[in-house]
Amino acid sequence: NGAVRVNMSNVDSPLQIFVRAKKKINDIFVEIDDYVKDAVTFMHAVTGENGIATPQDLANVEAYISKVQAIREVLKRDHMKVAFFGRTSNGKSTVINAMLHDKILPSGIGHTTNCFLQVEGSDNDEAFLRTDGSEEKLNVQSVSQLGHALCASRLQECSLVHVYWPRELCALLRDDVVLVDSPGVDVTPNLDEWIDKYCLDADVFVLVANAESTLMVTEKNFFHKVSTKISQPNIFILNNRWDASASEPEYLDQVRTQHANRCVDFLSRELRVCSPKEAEERIFFISAKEALLTRMREREKPVSSPILAEGHQVRYFEFVDFERKFEECISKSAVRTKFAQHSRRGKNIAAEVMAALEVVYNTATDQKAAKVEKQRVLHEQLSAIEDQLTTITRQMKDKINRMVESVEHKVSLTLSQ
Ligand code: GTP
Ligand code: MG
Repeated sequence: NGAVRVNMSNVDSPLQIFVRAKKKINDIFVEIDDYVKDAVTFMHAVTGENGIATPQDLANVEAYISKVQAIREVLKRDHMKVAFFGRTSNGKSTVINAMLHDKILPSGIGHTTNCFLQVEGSDNDEAFLRTDGSEEKLNVQSVSQLGHALCASRLQECSLVHVYWPRELCALLRDDVVLVDSPGVDVTPNLDEWIDKYCLDADVFVLVANAESTLMVTEKNFFHKVSTKISQPNIFILNNRWDASASEPEYLDQVRTQHANRCVDFLSRELRVCSPKEAEERIFFISAKEALLTRMREREKPVSSPILAEGHQVRYFEFVDFERKFEECISKSAVRTKFAQHSRRGKNIAAEVMAALEVVYNTATDQKAAKVEKQRVLHEQLSAIEDQLTTITRQMKDKINRMVESVEHKVSLTLSQ
């Protein structure tokens, strides 16, 4: 279909921390699955008439099969989730498109994104849409209809549209990153509902701010709410539209310092989600529009090609730097939050199944010991009888001998008379 495939080798990507951990824990659960099934086979063999295990013991062990199956299903679907927030028109959708190397989400001037749009990899290399709660696959062309505020058939702002995009077209999707775009935080009173519905399982939040103005109260309030519901959320701040600085080079450094100080202050002193030093590593000055253009050109996609402003390469490098730090943060956070609990559960299941087998083993050992003891007692009784017999036999012999002797004596006496 003429699409240029992005075959970036991503073996060095920090996302591999998550990808490898996911593979490992999935493999471990295959083993746990085998182990549980073996245990069930064994239990079947020892249950029943004269069996060592009761039907209840068997049922207890059998129940682990579906538990392990359920965890394996969840593990297969586990992903890393990043959610983007910020005021209307700051460039949230453009940032996501730049990260995906393609114009997937609608973007434009005015209030554009109208509902939540979640971009994720599609398993069969098909591109399609699905609204939350429905199984119907919709054409991708309709993303601008469903997700765009200017369209008549638009959805409620709290609703969610899943955008499935071929994994092979984008490294992030291939490595199980899911990106969530949102309407501007300033266009809704329903921020609490948003947070409860879409934020509680996010591994990373990206605040897309406007470098042409400054951090706004609505944006700050939103993250204040987030940090009351989630402990220590990972937040990155992108000062987008930094290309605007090219037209005012005389103030560039001062403006950058002003923005950086405010952002560090916000993350470290207001939200207290990290130290000032860590906060410095979470703040970037970028131009999503330029980054997207650069990437579309790289992929030989037809784009209108305005001349990029002075300093665009530096801004692009900073965008790439952001992506690297973001990837590292999201993969580590997701491994911790998604897999720690499952690995604990896996360990417990293995231990519980072993305990059940041990009970059966102990019963078997007890029964064997009882049989051996019974035999021993029997043996002792037999030897006692044997001893008695020997004694009796000996006594009898003596008696008979004596009798014979006495008879012989009597006979000889009689004969000699
Ligand atoms: P809503 O969906 O309405 O909340 O907006 P948004 O935050 O998703 O912004 P969007 O990505 O739609 O961008 C708004 C407009 O700003 C579009 O016309 C973009 O092309 C433009 N834009 C985005 N990023 C940049 C940038 O870095 N520099 C410049 N100059 N324009 C940008
Ligand atoms: Mg948008």
